[in-house]
Amino acid sequence: MNNKYILDFPTINQKVNEHRLAYLDSAATTQKPSEVINAVNDYYNKFNANPHRGAYYLSIKATEIYENTREVVKNFIGAEKAKEIVFVKNATEGFNLLAYSYGMNFINPGDEIVISIAEHHSNLVPWQQVAKAKGAVLKYLYLNDEGIISTEEVESKITEKTKIVSVTQVSNVLGTINPIKDIIRKAHSVGAIAIVDGSQSIPHMSVNVRELDADFIVFSGHKMLSPMGIGVVYGKEELLEKMPPFIFGGDMIEYVWEQKATFAEVPYKFEGGTQNVGGAVGLTAAIRYLQNVGMDNIVNIEKDLVSYALEKLSEIPYITVYGSKDINKKAGVISFNVQDVHPHDVASILDASGVAIRAGHHCAHPLMRYMGVNATCRASFYLYNVREDIDALTEGLKSTRKWLGYGS
Ligand SMILES: Cc1ncc(COP(=O)(O)O)c(C=O)c1O
Repeated sequence: MNNKYILDFPTINQKVNEHRLAYLDSAATTQKPSEVINAVNDYYNKFNANPHRGAYYLSIKATEIYENTREVVKNFIGAEKAKEIVFVKNATEGFNLLAYSYGMNFINPGDEIVISIAEHHSNLVPWQQVAKAKGAVLKYLYLNDEGIISTEEVESKITEKTKIVSVTQVSNVLGTINPIKDIIRKAHSVGAIAIVDGSQSIPHMSVNVRELDADFIVFSGHKMLSPMGIGVVYGKEELLEKMPPFIFGGDMIEYVWEQKATFAEVPYKFEGGTQNVGGAVGLTAAIRYLQNVGMDNIVNIEKDLVSYALEKLSEIPYITVYGSKDINKKAGVISFNVQDVHPHDVASILDASGVAIRAGHHCAHPLMRYMGVNATCRASFYLYNVREDIDALTEGLKSTRKWLGYGS
């Protein structure tokens, strides 16, 4: 097995249902390397305390560790200042922060919010709430035959009325890569702000927020080797400055009187309550791990896996693969269906041979409807996957129809 990273991941090195685990659900959450697990363990063994609040050694240490993660994330995504990094629980909370703090305050009746039909519900439902509350119009960018937002679609849908454009860089269902730079450029040309869902891109490719000129970018740590419970909203300082807090309470205030309060500076005004320092430790360790492997290296590993998987899947006649089959337009996610077999049955049958895939709507109901399906099977890859995982997947798929009595 030609992949030296596998040994770093304890969960990958186990048998499931008496088979070698083929973990093909990294788009949902990734496995964690020992370096991350040990770093979190070490933090709780040596340094645990509430940050920003204590004048004693452990609290000062916890504060240093937490703030250092801001610096690490800033450098990883090419932001200008550490204060432009806001920690949240996950991408979903990040989009709610933007919807409630930016959307509810800067959107007016008749304004347009533009998203794509391929958005995860977390970058969709919050904007529905803003549109409903503010009398704005929620408009969709639809996909071309390859499952990508075309330039024509961008040019025709983003108009002078558009105030927010919020689009995913990589689809969590199709794995397709959208022309995010063009979308951001177009948004700015009409005076709109551009928000990027980086949940499926930042873990898998080099993303530089300043090169993109994104106003905001949102992502979850748990999809990039870190523990669950920590995510990031990057925002340009001038925008974060003018936004009110979203979560009110401890730690995010400057002064509090009986009937009013003033708030802490950016980014602290957005980080109400005790923060996830253990998660921050894990995120720092995860980013260091990814940087040591190299993002270009990760792109190459995934490209090899995707091209091998597409080739193997194309050999099975009763399988339909959705979205582009061009590995240059696609990250490490493949959605497919097995003729006559519900994706949940496919996933259960594969589980019996140690193959873990996702089945369902992938938190993208509007996209499923647009594609004309109720659900799909999804295999997604990361740096610890090998071609043997794909062999296990395709071998398992060959038996699914037989299991259900179709003969072949
Ligand atoms: C593209 C995309 N956006 C947002 C999310 C939401 O992430 P979380 O559940 O960590 O909030 C996901 C999760 O699958 C995703 O794939």
